[in-house]
Amino acid sequence: MSEQSSSSPRLAGKVAFITGAASGIGFACAKRFAFEGAKILGFDLNPCAKWSEIEALTSAQFVQGDVTSLSAQQAAVDLAVAEWGRVDVLMTAAGIADAGPVHMVTEDAWDKVLDINLKGTFLSIKAVLPQMMEQGGGSIITVASIEGLIGSEGGSSYNASKGGVVLLTKNVALDYGRKGVRCNCICPGFINTEMLRATIDHDFMADYKQAVTNESTFGRLGKPEEIAGAAFFLASEDSSFVSGQSLAVDGGYTAGHNHGLVELMGLA
Ligand code: NAI
Repeated sequence: MSEQSSSSPRLAGKVAFITGAASGIGFACAKRFAFEGAKILGFDLNPCAKWSEIEALTSAQFVQGDVTSLSAQQAAVDLAVAEWGRVDVLMTAAGIADAGPVHMVTEDAWDKVLDINLKGTFLSIKAVLPQMMEQGGGSIITVASIEGLIGSEGGSSYNASKGGVVLLTKNVALDYGRKGVRCNCICPGFINTEMLRATIDHDFMADYKQAVTNESTFGRLGKPEEIAGAAFFLASEDSSFVSGQSLAVDGGYTAGHNHGLVELMGLA
């Protein structure tokens, strides 16, 4: 992808509201959507040192705020509508990691991860829906995780929050389809971002890092841009008959287990 916007932009005229836009998956999606001609309203708790890369591609605004605040998200949506008249795409990439089996997770830690990952997603959707219904439709793309589809060791609160996002997505799809609103969920596998590096880049996690890398059928971690490719499909009219789905973008991680037969068969 060159730094210039696409010569035939597929999201021209669309406005995208993206939470978690300062970093990792959210930033990569902001950049891809901008490249495809969408106007971008980025929202994040933290400032974004690289936002000028988005502004070089498209008309863009960045708002610092917390997804646990409906009023903060509503103000950002109102700004997008004041600037550009509509919101066509919502992408909810804000989130935090957490780990620990139930007996080790405090109530405060549980509340925090559920508040940001699940309630934050609910509030993002709540903030954009009136505008999407008024304008006749839109595409909502939530971000859960493969850990919202299958269990993983020590993942109680995080996995519960992401499982909630998967089911919330289906319900929003059911409730608002006749208003022209589609809602789909991306379930990333292990993607090389700040969040993942903060978890696995420790000496004591070396075996875990190797194991999750091997479990991808490609034997590598994913890139944020590979999530952005799937998000672009869900944001564009190419997915006009797709709603209520959870798309694992995980290098085949959830396709099954690798127990070494690929190597025995000479396919490694
Ligand atoms: P990241 O840490 O690079 O980006 C997350 C962004 O969310 C950060 O910019 C952070 O400031 C923002 N954020 C956190 N709490 C917030 C709040 N209360 N209000 C507003 N913004 C807030 O992480 P990454 O990897 O890009 O994660 C994006 C989403 O993808 C998260 O929901 C994460 O759970 C999910 N995910 C990531 C995977 C990975 O391997 N990186 C795997 C599966 C899911």
